[in-house]
Amino acid sequence: MGRTKINVVLLMILKLFLVGTTTGEETYENDRHIKELSSSHTYKNVNHLHLNFLRGRSELDQSEIKEKHISEINADLMKKYHEIVGIHEKLMKEAFQLDEYKNEIIRKENDLQLCQSKVDKLESEINSQQTTINQLTLNANFLASYDECKKELSDKSNKLEICEVQLKKLNSSVIEKDEKISEYSPTIQNITEHQKTINLKLEETPPMLVTSDFREAIANLRSIYHNNPSSCLPFGEHPGVHEIKVSGVGFFEVLCDSQLAGPGWIVIQQRIGGKENFTRDWATYRKGFGSLDSDFFLGLEKMYRLTSQQQYELYIHLVAENGSIFYARYDDFKISDEDHGYALSLGKFRGNIENAMRESENRKFRTFDEGYQHYSGNCAVWHGSGWWYNDCFKGHLNGLYGRDLEWYTETGTINKLKEAKMLIRPKEE
Ligand SMILES: *[C@@H]1O[C@H](CO)[C@@H](O)[C@H](O)[C@H]1NC(C)=O
Ligand SMILES: *[C@@H]1O[C@H](CO)[C@@H](O)[C@H](O)[C@H]1NC(C)=O
Ligand SMILES: *[C@@H]1O[C@H](CO)[C@@H](O)[C@H](O)[C@H]1NC(C)=O
Ligand SMILES: *[C@@H]1O[C@H](CO)[C@@H](O)[C@H](O)[C@H]1NC(C)=O
Repeated sequence: MGRTKINVVLLMILKLFLVGTTTGEETYENDRHIKELSSSHTYKNVNHLHLNFLRGRSELDQSEIKEKHISEINADLMKKYHEIVGIHEKLMKEAFQLDEYKNEIIRKENDLQLCQSKVDKLESEINSQQTTINQLTLNANFLASYDECKKELSDKSNKLEICEVQLKKLNSSVIEKDEKISEYSPTIQNITEHQKTINLKLEETPPMLVTSDFREAIANLRSIYHNNPSSCLPFGEHPGVHEIKVSGVGFFEVLCDSQLAGPGWIVIQQRIGGKENFTRDWATYRKGFGSLDSDFFLGLEKMYRLTSQQQYELYIHLVAENGSIFYARYDDFKISDEDHGYALSLGKFRGNIENAMRESENRKFRTFDEGYQHYSGNCAVWHGSGWWYNDCFKGHLNGLYGRDLEWYTETGTINKLKEAKMLIRPKEE
């Protein structure tokens, strides 16, 4: 605006200046030329003209000086103008830069906000992760405590099982004890009554009789009972019926014998009168049958339990029809458990008759209702008895009385028997 105006003024001034001035040399040349013209041609008017021209020229020179001054002022103005323009430009530039800075600040602020929001987001993420971590830690703790709980539970159930087993044991021993007490009480009462009557009799008879021996015997028996005897050995001096206790079957009565072959034998089988029926099934042979003061069979399970506790010897007492007495001994008598058929083992033989029982060794016990599909089982059917049959026997002590109660010899002679007993006793080392 101001700039163009200033420029137009400057141009006008420059034009005026150029029109008004020609070089001094040129002016001089013109003067000389005009003088020559006026002399040679004598034109009076020309000289006059020339004077007018000179006057005009001096006036022109005056105005030239003025113009020069103006142009100087103009140049100064131009310089100032340029300076102003420069300052203006500089200001403009600075304003622009200021704008730039402002923009940049705004940009930076935006960036900062963006960054802040990112930071916030990250922080919230971190928080949520921390929550997750806490949760996981809780879970881990929970798992650990769950495992502990489970372990404790299994411990407890193990202990419970052990406890139940112990309880069962205790219960069964309580039951056994109860049975024992109920079985004992009449006997003890009987003994006490006996003692009373004897004491009465003793009072009537003169003193110095066997009172002290008798009392001692009673005390002795009591202490023996107290110790739960498991065979007839403790009753060596008191043969007869006694109660013993064997693990697996508990208490039961046995007939103790001290006459036939020394003290302490348990009679496990007896044929002395033929009053008992020996045609019995498996369950009855397993349990035992008959009465101890007559014919009986103690029972396979009791025999197995007794002979599995320790080594037993077997003594067989035989009475032939003509009254001759024989014996056969075996030093390691035992029978297997029921699952193995109560199979027979004998050990070494000693005796004054044939070793006829050897035929039955390792054979399973047979009854008419058990194992009849075997040949040896048929023996049980044919002979109507229970025995360790082996096609079928050489010694047959459960045979029908008066018919099959037999013991063979090597030559095939048959000893018909009118009495037979089987006795066992713990083998002394
Ligand atoms: C003990 O044994 C008897 C007879 O077998 C039975 O009735 C009872 O429930 C048992 N008691 C326990 C606590 O096992
Ligand atoms: C008591 O003893 C008598 C005579 O010895 C006998 O006959 C009886 O059977 C006994 N009673 C009992 C319960 O043991
Ligand atoms: C012996 O018992 C068996 C089986 O129970 C029976 O068949 C038989 O008749 C009995 N014998 C006698 C003599 O009673
Ligand atoms: C009795 O019979 C048996 C055979 O059974 C024979 O060995 C013994 O010599 C007999 N005894 C008498 C006294 O006749």
